[in-house]
Amino acid sequence: MTFRELYRSIYELLKKSGTDSPESDAMELVLHFTGMNRVSYLINQDCQAEPEIVNMVCEAAEKRSEGYPLQYISGCWSFMDCELLVGEGVLIPRDDTEVCVREVLKYSWDSPLVIDLCSGSGAIAIAVARNIPGARVIAAELSDAAFVYLEKNTELNGVGGRVVPVKCDIKKCYDSYNDGSFDVIISNPPYIRKSEIPSLQKEVRCEPEMALDGGEDGLDFYRTIAEKWVPKLKSGGIIALEIGEEQGEDVRKLLENNGITELRIVKDIQGLDRTVIGRRSHYSKTDVH
Ligand SMILES: C[S@@+](CC[C@H](N)C(=O)[O-])C[C@H]1O[C@@H](n2cnc3c(N)ncnc32)[C@H](O)[C@@H]1O
Repeated sequence: MTFRELYRSIYELLKKSGTDSPESDAMELVLHFTGMNRVSYLINQDCQAEPEIVNMVCEAAEKRSEGYPLQYISGCWSFMDCELLVGEGVLIPRDDTEVCVREVLKYSWDSPLVIDLCSGSGAIAIAVARNIPGARVIAAELSDAAFVYLEKNTELNGVGGRVVPVKCDIKKCYDSYNDGSFDVIISNPPYIRKSEIPSLQKEVRCEPEMALDGGEDGLDFYRTIAEKWVPKLKSGGIIALEIGEEQGEDVRKLLENNGITELRIVKDIQGLDRTVIGRRSHYSKTDVH
């Protein structure tokens, strides 16, 4: 079988199974297992593929046709200027999350101390460290599986000295930090309503439930962050949270009630509410001792 025939056969399989973007997924699978880039594929497409390669590509295409994420097959994914290892047990970073990071990058910073709550693969923490000179970032994550990726990604992206992975439950570990410690709190926490999880796309249901489950109303983590973590921000510090498209007003109110001002809801590229950002008031009630 030639590489072109191999591509064609898995493209047909993915198309028949209703997989989104069957052309690009089929091409990604062929390139991943052959180690070719697009140019070498075009040059070699009429050469014979080794039987072992054919088997590996066909097995992976079968899994993909059943809804297994392409990113878990390839084992890596890019986020902004970072290359991240991903696999079962860690959330695949989404382009939407750039909105939150880019809002933070718009401020002018002088070696800020940042905490990324619910860090997962480390996408946010690493992008912040790479794009803000001198930033030091604590990356807090509870899942054992995700933590392995977080540690590896930190090293792979050359920010090992400036991103510090910390394994902790953000619903409990806030007392480990003094009030007024951080210049920035940033987070993409789990925010899907528990009842919605069974109806999510097949691909998303392959991702860890712990990365998705935001409790009955999806707001559990925002409550913890607003009540327990906002006091850890310096006066004048910035908080930026990714949100689900219908959570903007609820999250805005939670932050407002806990001393955050200058609140803005920022939309993603599709025009959906995606980030709430604000500044800890210089005269917050949490300053009064
Ligand atoms: C929506 S994912 C975001 C991952 C990453 N920040 C990103 O944007 O790709 C949420 C992450 O929160 C982690 N998590 C869930 N509960 C947690 C807790 N109580 N404390 C710390 N991390 C938690 C999950 O394991 C998951 O990695």
